[in-house]
Amino acid sequence: MLSWIAALLAGILTAHLAQRWCFPYFWRDALFLTRVMRYGARLEFYKRSSRIVTVVDRFVQQAQRIPEKAFLIYEGVTHSYGELEERSNRVARVFEDAVKKGDTVALLMSNEPDFISVWFGFCKLGCAVAFLNTNIKSRSLLHCFNCCGAKLLVVGADLLETLEDIIPSLQEDRIEVWCLTRESPRPGVRSLLDKMESASQEPIPAERRSVRCLKTPTLYIFTSGTTGLPKAAVITHLQSLKAAGGFWAYSATGSDVIYTPLPLYHSAASLVGIGGTIELGATCVLKKKFSASQFWHDCRKHNVTIFQYIGEVCRYLCNQPVAGNEKDHRVRMGVGNGLRLDVWREFLGRFGEIRMCEIYGSTEGNLCFMNHVGKIGAVGRSNFFYKLIFKYDLVKYDLVREEPVRDHNGFCQHVQKGETGLLLSKICSQSPFFGYAGSKQLTEKKILRDVFVKGDTYFNTGDLMAEDEDNFICFKDRVGDTFRWKGENVATTEVTEILGLVDFIQEANVYGVQVPGNEGRAGMAAVIVRPECTFDGKKLFNHVLKELPSYARPLFIRLQESMEMTSTFKQQKFALVESGFNPSSVSDPLYILDHSEKSYIPLTPSIYDGIVNAQHKV
Ligand SMILES: *[C@@H]1O[C@H](CO)[C@@H](O)[C@H](O)[C@H]1NC(C)=O
Repeated sequence: MLSWIAALLAGILTAHLAQRWCFPYFWRDALFLTRVMRYGARLEFYKRSSRIVTVVDRFVQQAQRIPEKAFLIYEGVTHSYGELEERSNRVARVFEDAVKKGDTVALLMSNEPDFISVWFGFCKLGCAVAFLNTNIKSRSLLHCFNCCGAKLLVVGADLLETLEDIIPSLQEDRIEVWCLTRESPRPGVRSLLDKMESASQEPIPAERRSVRCLKTPTLYIFTSGTTGLPKAAVITHLQSLKAAGGFWAYSATGSDVIYTPLPLYHSAASLVGIGGTIELGATCVLKKKFSASQFWHDCRKHNVTIFQYIGEVCRYLCNQPVAGNEKDHRVRMGVGNGLRLDVWREFLGRFGEIRMCEIYGSTEGNLCFMNHVGKIGAVGRSNFFYKLIFKYDLVKYDLVREEPVRDHNGFCQHVQKGETGLLLSKICSQSPFFGYAGSKQLTEKKILRDVFVKGDTYFNTGDLMAEDEDNFICFKDRVGDTFRWKGENVATTEVTEILGLVDFIQEANVYGVQVPGNEGRAGMAAVIVRPECTFDGKKLFNHVLKELPSYARPLFIRLQESMEMTSTFKQQKFALVESGFNPSSVSDPLYILDHSEKSYIPLTPSIYDGIVNAQHKV
């Protein structure tokens, strides 16, 4: 009998050790998957019963359950769930008769609590809300209204100025403009704060906002387009609910304090950050703008436990001078995207054991990876079960021709484990792709057909990834006509078009180059100057300053005599990207954007060295 028990124990021990040895992540994977499936089951229930609890419904529930609890902390002022609920009711009351269920309204605001009051106020009226990127300049901004069909715009008091030159066009298009001020700041712009103050705080009946279908659009979030102008990604209730489960999936709770220094017009802050805070009933410390020097001070002051990041945030924090109390804080987790191996290591070394949870997923995409194990350098983790839920593939990609490699039958080819490939995600009813508002053509461009069999369709993420032996997925690079700089997408064609407006430029070719010590790629333009004209650095500087948001301005200019005729446009671009911006190896004249000189100035070897050694800030 005893020997039988001993044998059994030995057996269990061996099995346990074997499992530790062969499947070291088994339990963590299993626990994580259980959570994901529980959340998925809830969404599935909504789908079947058509009794959908949207993010705003959830907010209203929390406001009834915990009205006194701090929902937002902004510039030292605490706003409770109850207060925000009341304030959003007032917004809804102001516009009750002005908009109909199903209308779209646009929101141009910086991070502040009223961003959320206005957003939720319109949701309570059954409207969809379009978040406008506050960096976008006039021309692109007008285009945004056409995409999503908004008839009304609410603008923050601090951003009215940026609208100045398009207000007449907006009026022509009969778009009402409301500003968050007490008095009308100029003719044609109505004030909102005074109306909110005198409006009733009674909730609008829930019927007005009820939705029957998870695939009803609730938001439009603008992302950079490959054809130049921003694209309005359609965010349905399904996506907003999925994103709101992010913190929860990483086992955050209602007692967490979440720090959000990212702009609310991006999906990370609004959908994952605010949506996730509401899902948990937690508190969000909202920052108007990220500040590396205030970061840890804020975290200590508010007992922050979780922060949201993009790769740049962590890099800027690492670039701060070392302080004695760096590990003295309660931050236990960071949730975000784009943290690179080197910065990740340094960050943990300096600021202590913080679990960094990468979430990979584009605003409009239908795929999501989460690195729940916290393995340094990976954006996500996959396994057999995950592949049953998310049908994605990595396929061979031709960097020069900028397209997937097709075999003699015209089908794409899987890459080997460890090899880099283009990430594709299958479009099906479980993971639909809702495309972009107002443009079938743009939507079609993101779809790849006949990938492995005739008739299948995949969403092309445009990201190059590799999956290793242990099923960790690592981000390698981004392909195509966009690159990322300072946390924003830059569309090369948009920049090309703007450069083409300068009188001395005959031709421009825009691309991104890697700059040591920086995330993403900096903009660079190869430019051909018109015959009989000369390059005017000051003029070009003033033009890009006026026409392009800061992250999209080309940092480097390369003057070319002529475009090489023997190779294709794509081959030329590839060669340009490869040759970079080192004046010692590039024989063409190079210029760099210089804010102190307010001009493009010659890029000398000493400036180049300064950039590489991180002495010259870019
Ligand atoms: C942070 O935690 C400490 C210790 O529990 C507490 O004394 C302090 O009041 C908390 N601060 C805030 C802003 O909640």
